[in-house]
Order: sequence, then C-alpha cells, then structure tokens
Amino acid sequence: MTSRHPKGLAILFFTEMWERFSFYGMRAILVLYLTKETMGANPGLGWSNTDALALYGWYTMLVYVMSIPGGYVADRLLGQKKTVFIGGMFIALGQLTLAIDNMVAFYTGLALIITGVGGLKPNISTMVGGLYKQGDSRRDSGFTIFYIGINIGAASAPLLVGYVGEVYGWHYGFGLAGIGMLLGQIVYIWGQKYLKDVGNLLPVKKTEGKKEHTPLTKIEKDRIIVLLISFLIVIVFWGAYEQAGGLMNLYTKAKINRVVLGWEIPTSLFQSVPAFFVIILGTAVASFWAKRQLKGKEASSLFKMAIGTFIMGFGFLMMSGAALEAATGVKAMLIWLIASYLLQVIGELSISPVALSFITKLAPAKYASIMMGIYFAATGLGNKLAGLVGELASNAGELEVFTGIAVFCFAFGALLLVFFKKLKVLTHNAEAITN
Ligand code: PHE
Repeated sequence: MTSRHPKGLAILFFTEMWERFSFYGMRAILVLYLTKETMGANPGLGWSNTDALALYGWYTMLVYVMSIPGGYVADRLLGQKKTVFIGGMFIALGQLTLAIDNMVAFYTGLALIITGVGGLKPNISTMVGGLYKQGDSRRDSGFTIFYIGINIGAASAPLLVGYVGEVYGWHYGFGLAGIGMLLGQIVYIWGQKYLKDVGNLLPVKKTEGKKEHTPLTKIEKDRIIVLLISFLIVIVFWGAYEQAGGLMNLYTKAKINRVVLGWEIPTSLFQSVPAFFVIILGTAVASFWAKRQLKGKEASSLFKMAIGTFIMGFGFLMMSGAALEAATGVKAMLIWLIASYLLQVIGELSISPVALSFITKLAPAKYASIMMGIYFAATGLGNKLAGLVGELASNAGELEVFTGIAVFCFAFGALLLVFFKKLKVLTHNAEAITN
C-alpha cells in the first residue's frame, strides 16, 4: 500500500519499543510494590492504597510534563538526537537505581526516570516526523508503524517485568526494565548511520544585540489554534483512557467474571489487552481513514480526533453495561470489558498517532520539539485527571462514574462537531500548506 519507509524508522521504532517496555514494565509493578506489606516474602513499602495511587498520579503526570523542558533543551541546546540519547541514559540509570533496595535510591530512581522520559519521549516522536519531507504522504503511516512499536513494548512489559517483579522480587523487575532501556540504547547507537539528517540542532539566526520579533502570520495563527484545540481533546481523551490502570483495573478484579474455561485469568493480564488491540488494529484503523481520504472525503485531523472521542464514549457505555449487570448481584460478563477496551483502542488510534503526525506537520521547525513537549504535557494532565476522576468512584459509585465519562465524551465530541464547519476550514487551511 505504501512505498518503503526510511531505514531510520526501524531504528526509532525499536528504540522506542524498548523505552516503552521499560516504562510500562516499571509502571505495572510500581503500585504493587508500594502497597505490598513490609514483612514476608518479596516485601514492599507497605503504603496505603491512597498514598500509592497519589504517588502514581504525580509520577505519571510528571513524566510527561517534563517533556516541556525536554523539548526546550532539544530545540535550543542539543537537538533532538542527542537529547534522546541522554534521556535514554537517565532512564536506564533510573531503573537500575530502583533495583537497589533503599528509600533514597527509590526517590532518586523516580527522579531520573522522570527527567529521562522528558528528554526521550517527545523528541523521538519529533524525529519520526523528521524522517519525512513536507508533503510526504508516508508520514501518517510512519507514525502508525511507530505507534505499533510503542505498543509491542507496552504489551509485553507488564507480562515479563510483572512476572519477574512479583515472583522473583520487585527490584529484579526494576532491573529488567533498566536492561530493556539499555537494549534500546544499543539499537539507537548502532542505528546512528541511518539517522544522519534527523534530529540535529537547527542553527538559530541571531541578529546582533536584538532579538527578531516577526509577528505570526494568519496561517501560523490558524495552526496554533488547531494545535491548542487538539491539546484540549488530548486531556479529555487520556483522562478517560487512563482509567485502565486505575479504576478499571480495580473494577476488573472485583466485579468482572474472569473465569474462562474453568481458569480464572489474573487481573493484571488485562493490562496488556489495549496494547494488543493496538498492534492488531493499528494498520486497519489507519487505512480506514486513509481510504476515506482517497475517496475525496478528506477527514481533517481534528475531525478524526472528535470521532475518536465519541468512540471513547461508547467504550465507557460498555462499562456502564457491566456495572448495570453487576448491580444485580452477579459478576459482570467479561465481554463488556473486552468490548470496552476494543472501542477505547479504536478511539485511541483515531487520536494518538494522528496527533503525533500532525504536530510534526504543523509546528514551525524551530518550535517542533517544544510543541511536541506541550502536547505530551497535555497528556500528563490527562493522566492526572484520570486519577482524580477514578477517585470519585469510591463516593459516587462506578456506574455513575463510567456513565459520566461516556456522557462527557459524547458531549465534548458533539461540541467539536458543532463547531466543525469552522474548524474544518481552519484545519484544512492549516494542514493544506504542508500536506
Ligand atoms: N500508549 C501511548 C504511549 O505510551 C500513550 C501515550 C500517548 C503516552 C501520548 C503519552 C502521550 O506512547
């Protein structure tokens, strides 16, 4: 369907796959380690659920908020390529520090990982965009492929790191996450020959003494508005999606019938389901949108994102279905949960790779990394929002929270579509230039 992609894509694909392996592996055991009692086999820190979830919320927010300084450093000081490498070293060092059983090591490790992800994650994404010239039609499919790499890491990590962490010891799990990142670094160093023209620091024109202030053109303003709207969608979207690790996880454990053919599937295994769906459906969803484009019904990025928000709403309606069934006193059927994840992932695929691609398309080159950084920071806010919404369930009840999320997604998606006529002009204007 598409012509060959640049070799550099494979390098970025595997580097990011390992980085995500390390990230999601560590994330899968973090809360378990925090809450495990301090006595007995494989002891943890003995924290309360509330304290553990609070740290988890701050951690998942900060890793992405650090993308702003990460993007800034790339644009102004080092270029994306070097920042990615240094970020990777921080992550590996951080994970290996967590492998040491000591509280100072624990906090130091977290800080190193937060700094490292801030340097690596947004900039490696910008580099994917840098593989394609303006107007190259392979850009979107390049991001879809990259996104599949992310999810191969995300799907396998909870299984491997989770297993090692729970069975052999938490610190071995963290160590394994560190080794994963080091493997990513090896791929990245080896692959430098394919990344010669990508991610280098752009020379800044300096006029002596004074800074140049060129006012934004109409088109640049359009583009920035489009980007800002997309950031808003992202906060709402991840605020819903990231229930997976929190509320939906606890709900699966307590209220979903997990017995299949006489075997009770462990709850943590379901954490890999969305990532598996991304791997299976990634190209299908992307080519659905691409076909519409070929038929002349070009769906602008924001349109795809609004539809993605809608589909997300349906995903949460499935959870309302589960909660209604569970209200009758039985455990709800597993199919509700699977259908919910399936719809959520179709929504994700209409939003997340699309956003990555079009940020690299729309942002002016000299602000490319910082724009990506702000985008990831919005994701971080979404993650924090998810935690806050999840907490509501203990007072308001799960049915109310699931349905509330669904209604909010529908309302927000509808609002975007109502303004769509205007937005469409805007996005087409903004995208037409470079696409
Ligand atoms: N699965 C995605 C990833 O790890 C989730 C995500 C999207 C995270 C956007 C940050 C920003 O890449």
